[in-house]
Amino acid sequence: MNDRKSPVTLKIILIGSSGVGKSSFMNRYVNHRFSNMYRATIGTDFLSRTVNIEEDAVTLQIWDTAGTERFQSLGTPLYRGAHCCMLVFDVTSRASFSALVEWRKEFLIQGEPQDPSGFPFIVLGNKTDLSNREVSGSKALQWCEEIGAEYFEGSAKDDLDVEKPFLRAAQSGLQQY
Ligand code: GTP
Repeated sequence: MNDRKSPVTLKIILIGSSGVGKSSFMNRYVNHRFSNMYRATIGTDFLSRTVNIEEDAVTLQIWDTAGTERFQSLGTPLYRGAHCCMLVFDVTSRASFSALVEWRKEFLIQGEPQDPSGFPFIVLGNKTDLSNREVSGSKALQWCEEIGAEYFEGSAKDDLDVEKPFLRAAQSGLQQY
C-alpha cells in the first residue's frame, strides 16, 4: 500500500430491488442504527465510514441507490468510478435474488469498469433474521461461483454479519484503486 495516494477514498455502490434493505444495511454499518419504517430512497444518497486496512485509513463512500429506478439511466453517472459493487437481495424474496442478474448487467454497461471480468462484485443476502426464507445460502453461493463474486449474508435488523461484507468490499476495492 506504500505507493498509494493517501488518504484513500473508495466508492462502493449498493444496488438491488426496492425494499431489500440497502439503506438499512448501510445505516446499520455507518450509523449503527436500524428502523422498521420503510422510507423509499429518492435518487441516491451516500454515507462515509473510515476503516483501517493494513494500518492505512481507508474511507468508504457508500452509495445507496433507489431500487425503484430499476435499470434506468440514473445509474450512468452514479456507477462510474466505483471500486466495488454490492448486489443486495432479500433472502425471503426469490424475485429480488433473480433480479440481480439484471442489476449486475446494468452496472457493467453503465459503470463501464476498466476490467469488467475482474471487477469485484459482492453479493449480499439481507434479512436472515426472518424465518420465511426463499433463497438458500448454497443457491446464492452457486451463482456467485458462476459470476466470480463473493457471497455474504446477514441482517441489518439484528446487526448480524454487517461488518464483514464492507470490510471485504474495502479490501477488493483497494485492488481497483
Ligand atoms: P429502496 O430505497 O426502495 O431501494 O429500498 P431499500 O433496499 O433501501 O430498503 P430499506 O432499507 O428501505 O428497507 C426496506 C424495509 O425492509 C424496511 O421496512 C426495513 O425496516 C426492512 N428491513 C431492512 N433490513 C431488514 C432486515 O435485516 N430484517 C428485517 N426483518 N427487515 C429489514
